[in-house]
Amino acid sequence: MRELEEKIKEYGTVLPGNVLKVDAFLNHQVDPELMLHVGQEFARLFADAGVTKVWTVESSGIAPAVMTGLAMKVPVIFARKHKSLTLNQNMYVADVYSYTKKTTNRISISKKYVSQDDKVLMIDDFLANGQAVEGMLEIADQAGVQVAGAGIVIEKSFQPGAKELKDRGIRLESLARIKSLADNQTEFMPD
Ligand code: G4P
Ligand code: NA
Ligand code: NA
Repeated sequence: MRELEEKIKEYGTVLPGNVLKVDAFLNHQVDPELMLHVGQEFARLFADAGVTKVWTVESSGIAPAVMTGLAMKVPVIFARKHKSLTLNQNMYVADVYSYTKKTTNRISISKKYVSQDDKVLMIDDFLANGQAVEGMLEIADQAGVQVAGAGIVIEKSFQPGAKELKDRGIRLESLARIKSLADNQTEFMPD
């Protein structure tokens, strides 16, 4: 998505450890017009997939997920993160390890908002190691719902998440694909 790549070029900065900082429009300050276009693009890509719900994980996935739900006219659920080992009978839960933060979070989705005939589109801001999407896939598995695919705003194609999802047969659509962040340079994958 051209508009997104332009934003990354203009406002993104590369931090040590191959981290792309996009606080200017995605992870702290949010650019609503860009997010609307992101949502419309996911809606276009998954138009024929029979999506009934959009899922994401709090917090940075919420902005693109809500815009996707708006464009597709379906509800949006953000899985909640807990530090503790809370177990609740009314929740589906999965453990998500963050390589970046070296912590494990338990994510949960209430059974109340899941129906057996759901077909879920998973949206997230970044795809790096793929742990967040893996956690949502685990919950989809427990709940017995179908998965339409994953829509990612920024894919770090040099990290393992994208390949792992494709190897599992999950349809993956990423709006910006980053080949490298070496030498403080953001290099995109060729189209
Ligand atoms: P994953 O998201 O693919 O599972 O990967 P990983 O465990 O590596 O990432 C842990 C957290 O770091 C995730 O946020 C992920 O979105 C974020 N992240 C990974 N690479 C980058 C990057 O290059 N730039 C930025 N800005 N973030 C990155 P989180 O902790 O799950 O959540 P949130 O509270 O920010 O939504
Ligand atoms: Na995220
Ligand atoms: Na994040």
